Amino acid sequence: MEKFTTKTQIQQYLSLARANGKTIGLVPTMGALHAGHLSLIQQAQQQCDVVVCSIFVNPTQFTDPADLEKYPRPIQEDIRKLEAIGCDVLFEPAVNEIYDNNEHWHLNIGTLEDLLEGKYRPGHYQGVTQVVYKFFTLINPDVAFFGQKDYQQFLVISRMVALMDMPVKLIMCPIQREADGLAMSSRNIHLTPADRQNALVLSKTLNRIKSDFDINNIAILKQQAEAAINNQPGTQLDYFEIADGDTLLPADKQSKKIVALVAAKVGQTRLIDNVMISG
Ligand code: PAJ
Repeated sequence: MEKFTTKTQIQQYLSLARANGKTIGLVPTMGALHAGHLSLIQQAQQQCDVVVCSIFVNPTQFTDPADLEKYPRPIQEDIRKLEAIGCDVLFEPAVNEIYDNNEHWHLNIGTLEDLLEGKYRPGHYQGVTQVVYKFFTLINPDVAFFGQKDYQQFLVISRMVALMDMPVKLIMCPIQREADGLAMSSRNIHLTPADRQNALVLSKTLNRIKSDFDINNIAILKQQAEAAINNQPGTQLDYFEIADGDTLLPADKQSKKIVALVAAKVGQTRLIDNVMISG
């Protein structure tokens, strides 16, 4: 695997690959890689000649400095995992390679800015679009791969690509889960054994809402889901929403896609998960 830390190095390498007619796939990550991240890389390998994984813990998307501070950074393990699955390129820049001091960034992402995650993590999606914009312009991938796990992030990045007319195709990959249903996440390592059990209420509740789904009963289903999560010890619900899959506004009979999304703090760790209900 080629490993680059500077923009100049990676651009040189990729311009040669492009001149040789290779297509480039990008999987942006913040590291602490798990099977969810690796599934994105495998998907990219099926569709592209050269697969670039970026590992960059992006400071501008963290709303809580303590969360940034304690974000796991097991870089040697990550490199081993990437080498084991045959990833072609790792881009692992330092913060000052990506940002100058006091850079300004604002993109109008409409109502996605303040809904759901946006409400609980103000400014988060500005930081996400800021860094993904930089990576897209630097790496210029033909295709970029993101997980359904961060459903709202995918919609936000899709909006950015449309607004900025960027020549990149976006692919959303399915959520990888532990055997008992917990969505894989770099943050799961912070869960105590008790948290780990309590956290199962999230995927279980999403699945129950999916199997009980009835478009005429959304309000009641939502109430039941909220109650199930609030009644779980050690768990504090931020939101449970049954939303239109394109807008993330509350779903109604006109919605072509419906997704149920949840965010909750389990112990000290904030987790998110979602499930497609239809579409
Ligand atoms: P990170 O949380 O590291 O996630 C990187 C990618 O892996 C995202 O597209 C995310 O949706 C996907 N992913 C995470 N858990 C997954 C799972 N269980 N199954 C499938 N895919 C999963 O998302 C970010 O980093 C950052 O916001 C980033 C886009 C890199 C910008 O900084």
